[in-house]
Amino acid sequence: MSDDFEAANFGVIEGEAWMSEKKTEEFRSLTEMVQLARKHLDRGDWDYLVGAADTEASLRRNRAALESWVFKPRILNDVSKVNVESALLGSAMRIPVILPPIGSVQAFEAGGGTSVAKAAQDFGILQILSSACAPDYETVARDVPGDRIYQLYLVGDEAWMDDHISRALAAGYTGFCLTADTQVYSRRERDVMKGYVPMSGRSATAGGDFSHQASMTWDTVAHIKEKHDIPLVVKGVMHGDDASRCVEAGVDVVYISNHGGRQLDHTKACIDALPEVAAAVAGRVPVVVDGGFMRGADVVKGLCLGADFVGMGRFEGLAMAAGGSAGLMRGLKILEQEIRISMALLGAPDLAALNPTLLERAQPLAEPSVLSAFPLLEDY
Ligand SMILES: Cc1cc2nc3c(=O)[nH]c(=O)nc-3n(C[C@H](O)[C@H](O)[C@H](O)COP(=O)(O)O)c2cc1C
Repeated sequence: MSDDFEAANFGVIEGEAWMSEKKTEEFRSLTEMVQLARKHLDRGDWDYLVGAADTEASLRRNRAALESWVFKPRILNDVSKVNVESALLGSAMRIPVILPPIGSVQAFEAGGGTSVAKAAQDFGILQILSSACAPDYETVARDVPGDRIYQLYLVGDEAWMDDHISRALAAGYTGFCLTADTQVYSRRERDVMKGYVPMSGRSATAGGDFSHQASMTWDTVAHIKEKHDIPLVVKGVMHGDDASRCVEAGVDVVYISNHGGRQLDHTKACIDALPEVAAAVAGRVPVVVDGGFMRGADVVKGLCLGADFVGMGRFEGLAMAAGGSAGLMRGLKILEQEIRISMALLGAPDLAALNPTLLERAQPLAEPSVLSAFPLLEDY
């Protein structure tokens, strides 16, 4: 186990003045991280981060499903060492967590994509940088050289896309991500009711033709695989048949996502899409899942059900809002502890020990109410 893990377990971090104003990134718990994020963000940016589409049912279902899985721990396994390291697309991964693309991440802390890149690199996991955030991908690559995946929203024709993929490769990106669940932009009521425009929508590089996202097909995937020598991630897979088709098309990483509930409302929960997709992929390529994962135990549940990596989007945004790069680094260290502790208490000394027999379904703790379709009623 790492020094950090042991130090934290034996209380070393408890003795310091973590909550002083000057050291806001040094929160002691993920709850405090979220408290700080809330304190630092104005209402518009907060709602942009935590909100979702329409009734926000997809968002709540992600959480409800995660909470409906409970552990069946095993005992008397030697867990004096817990190994959570692995690799993705040739990059070492300190924990089985990836930082998903977050548009307008600079709204949460001015350094934006560069701050995330620094934390990802210092900590030792991969970031997927969104094309809808600042600074642009070439600047981030220059400022923080290293392994990274680039996610591009298609707002130009095929030649435009090819140009950006070639430039991403030249800049050192080690993977390319197509987000397939954003054919059109959804209606996010929190933003609509305030007239909130995310920063990416206000930037000079915005204003491209989003209809190219809507006309994207399997031919786009085939074209990228044929023309570019860069590993391809397809994000937004929710159906076993699409997962199979991805693998057949040569996609290198299948990424299960409902965009954190921010696109199609009333999707199944991502963790519920996981068993079907993992079965379809059958170990041929890595599977990533995101959607509602906020704690170490959540990550462990995703791994038990067949994911190789878990994406944590709002976690990334909240950590950035709490303390920028240092806040994200701190959040990831706490997350690492939570993962290690959950695995130890589950009797799992390494990632290979995680499997579906360690979970079963139970009644979720919180019941949806009759007003579930109008979660904003009390706030507006
Ligand atoms: C503020 C915000 C901005 C996002 N921007 C993008 C984006 O530019 N591209 C993309 O593929 N996904 C985007 N997503 C979706 C995330 O990559 C990820 O799929 C989602 O946040 C996972 O759900 P979670 O927030 O519950 O972890 C965004 C999510 C949030 C919260």
